[in-house]
Amino acid sequence: MTQDELKALVGQAALHYVVPGELVGVGTGSTVNKFIDALGAMKTRIRGAVSSSEASTARLLALGIPVFDANEAGELAVYIDGADEIDGRGFMVKGGGAALTREKIVAAQSRRFVCIADESKRVAVLGRFPLPVEVIAMATARITRQFSALGGTAHVRVRDGVPVLTDNGQHILDVTGLQIRDPLGFESEVNQWPGVVTVGVFAHQKAAVCLLGTAAGVETVVY
Ligand code: A5P
Repeated sequence: MTQDELKALVGQAALHYVVPGELVGVGTGSTVNKFIDALGAMKTRIRGAVSSSEASTARLLALGIPVFDANEAGELAVYIDGADEIDGRGFMVKGGGAALTREKIVAAQSRRFVCIADESKRVAVLGRFPLPVEVIAMATARITRQFSALGGTAHVRVRDGVPVLTDNGQHILDVTGLQIRDPLGFESEVNQWPGVVTVGVFAHQKAAVCLLGTAAGVETVVY
């Protein structure tokens, strides 16, 4: 199976975790796009969605799935999202699509995070994928130095020669060279650096379940 087919497989499998009659938290990215497309088929059986990005909101609305403001939604039964990396404990790196802050917000108001990913995302130690960090622009140079002190190299994410802006109007640093062996401690530490909006380590909001697309089919990993 191609990577695209594996993404479609887990996107479809995630429907099993959607609670009829309720709102579902929806992540961002190419794997979640497959989930959203599958969700279209059961849209009359859910109240709607809380979305983690403008891109996912547009896709949900185009399918006729109502999108609710996170502040009006209360606690959600489930949040479904992809990952750039996931380790053996359900800790993840996310933010390759620059949506990490809203993803963490919706994940935090959900009882259960169901991660959908193809098996290329599975790692022993987080850090192979450049770690996304959403930052306030004026703090970029100092935060870059703080990552250097940890052995990492940070670069502002650029597209067409200009810094990428998140849905929140902020910049993204991508940090290479890290081996994140204590995801909980690392997330807590970096989150309190002045100017960091969100670090892309999802340890405090880790996955409860991962639906992993493999050549043999969907592997369900419970953490
Ligand atoms: C978006 O900001 C990310 O956190 C995505 O969830 C992550 O990058 C996975 O995306 P893909 O499903 O496109 O690989």
